[in-house]
Amino acid sequence: MTNNMRALISITNARNYGIIQLKNESDHYDGRIVKVQGKDLVHFGNCSYLGLETHDAVKLGGIDALTRYGSLFASSRQYIGLGLNEELEALLDNITGYHTLVTQTTTLGSISAIPVITSSNDLIIVDHQLHASVQNAVKIAQAQGTQVVMLRHSNMTLLEEYIKQYQNKHEKIWYMADGLYSMLGDGCPIEQMYEFMDRYPNFYCFVDDAHGMSWIGENGKGYALSRKPLHQQMVMVMSLAKGFGCCGGVLVFPTPEGRDLVRCIGSSLIFSGPIPTPVLGACIASAKLHLTNEIVTRQNLLYGLIKYFRQQAYAHNLPLMNHTFSPIFYFGAGSENNAHHIVKKMQEAGFFTCICNFPAVPKKNAGIRICLTTHLTFEDIDNALTCMAEIVSSLENEGKLDKDKIYQSFRALEVL
Ligand SMILES: Cc1ncc(COP(=O)(O)O)c(C=O)c1O
Repeated sequence: MTNNMRALISITNARNYGIIQLKNESDHYDGRIVKVQGKDLVHFGNCSYLGLETHDAVKLGGIDALTRYGSLFASSRQYIGLGLNEELEALLDNITGYHTLVTQTTTLGSISAIPVITSSNDLIIVDHQLHASVQNAVKIAQAQGTQVVMLRHSNMTLLEEYIKQYQNKHEKIWYMADGLYSMLGDGCPIEQMYEFMDRYPNFYCFVDDAHGMSWIGENGKGYALSRKPLHQQMVMVMSLAKGFGCCGGVLVFPTPEGRDLVRCIGSSLIFSGPIPTPVLGACIASAKLHLTNEIVTRQNLLYGLIKYFRQQAYAHNLPLMNHTFSPIFYFGAGSENNAHHIVKKMQEAGFFTCICNFPAVPKKNAGIRICLTTHLTFEDIDNALTCMAEIVSSLENEGKLDKDKIYQSFRALEVL
């Protein structure tokens, strides 16, 4: 059976269960509640971690740009664009401390950068859990002749073996990883990646820190940059569509030359239209907030919720698979059927959570992802975890869920 067939079966099953491809029926949105089939659900699937998508300043930024410039500036930036793009990039340079380039989406950021920064003499080592959008960009590089190998998730021993094995056969060796993994919520082993970049002059990293942006680091510069300054042998892509509360992607380069190369020949910079004007206005307003104390207040609020969630998840002895202090929590379910059942029962009890099934994760690692945002309350967390604990415990009593087996299957993947 092909992977497409497997994915279709998995997704059709979840759809028939009524837990994916849902519609928020409400005529407004506050970030906390969604209405599904007439029922209000507390939203634990929202990746706008700092709640900025409903911030008045962000909304007004969008309205102001819309009023002044209309809904669209219909030209490729290669010809001419609104000065709002450069204004946003200047703010993002300040936030990250490096040379940024905005793209219409994070996916298009990777697709524009990777085929340009790599060459057919390079080797790309792809982490097994690398986000699909970067893997797609890698396929373009592969079609240009770049060799590609897979790496077991975050396995640094194996990574060093690859570097040693290939360092004299390739001009550059790239390791491509997520900063904060979007499904399992674990961080990339940044310390060791830096050690290797220091030790091996032709070892480079491309890091997709879409989910790390905003909720951590000074001015919300993200998970990876909060740990280490950008390495000279590193390029990053981050998202304006998660914690940043808007839409779009941002590439981060250690040098102006690197940025300029992708600005000139990155495919979406040439062949695609710009970020829609109202979104650019909202992005600028959000970026300005990132440079104020408000971001610190929101980061602290979120951190309090994260700490409380972890503590309560452990207290309920739930099968939590990642142990990072991030707003993404992953619970193993043991099977796709169990995962469907848990998400459905949570929904019936008033909580929206995300099913994680094939192709997003391997079948045996099916589970439930919960995202925290500053829209949520401590009481929401209490209620949701108490509910999940009851569902999990009844599955255990029926002999359908075995926590030890779940922990083992995740250990085998080395995802923690
Ligand atoms: C880690 C990661 N990278 C990239 C993307 C794609 O982002 P965009 O929708 O901006 O293309 C996502 C989307 O959810 C993601 O989780």
